[in-house]
Amino acid sequence: MSTILIDIRRAKPDDAVSLADTHDEAWRAAYMGLIPGPELEKLVQRRGPSWWDAAIRRGSRIALLTFGDEVAGYANFGRNRAKSLHYGGEIYELYLRPEYQGLGFGRRLFSMAKRDLHESGQNGLVVWALSDNEPAVNFYRALGGRAVARSTERFGTKVLDKVAFAWTR
Ligand SMILES: CC(C)(COP(=O)(O)OP(=O)(O)OC[C@H]1O[C@@H](n2cnc3c(N)ncnc32)[C@H](O)[C@@H]1OP(=O)(O)O)[C@@H](O)C(=O)NCCC(=O)NCCS
Repeated sequence: MSTILIDIRRAKPDDAVSLADTHDEAWRAAYMGLIPGPELEKLVQRRGPSWWDAAIRRGSRIALLTFGDEVAGYANFGRNRAKSLHYGGEIYELYLRPEYQGLGFGRRLFSMAKRDLHESGQNGLVVWALSDNEPAVNFYRALGGRAVARSTERFGTKVLDKVAFAWTR
């Protein structure tokens, strides 16, 4: 019998390549058909290993969920960027490789990020999702998020609605 270790830990510079790969795989699967192809390609290309390496080295908070030796997903988070929303923290991104979705790993990463934000004095948090990203919207609802704001984001010629979910504590 073999045991596979599931762990959540802070990203190190050595993780830049795996993070870029996880980002690439997860974003293509989540946004293909939603974000126009050339725009999605640009978003993915922009976030190669050097982008992740720089983000890790400047101290961005990035948590990785590892399954054995593989990075299954990540969450990055920090101070809430929308001053009109009175929540201290924000999860900027939370993504799992497709083969690791639906196993409770998203909930684990979310809880870890929420706890980390709380412990660093950032009370309450928001997370934005594209309104048409149904799996994400359903996930944040299942985790008790309340829709508190709406906005739009332009991807080339396409404008998509997005929704902010919030947790007060
Ligand atoms: C969205 C995402 C992070 C969720 O993570 P996950 O590991 O698949 O979700 P979990 O297994 O932890 O599920 C947690 C809860 O959300 C619910 N949930 C998750 N995905 C769901 C879906 N597609 N539809 C309905 N409910 C869903 C689960 O039923 C579970 O509820 P329960 O604990 O009450 O049973 C993950 O699927 C993912 O990376 N998707 C692609 C990327 C993405 O869209 N990220 C969010 C960008 S804003």
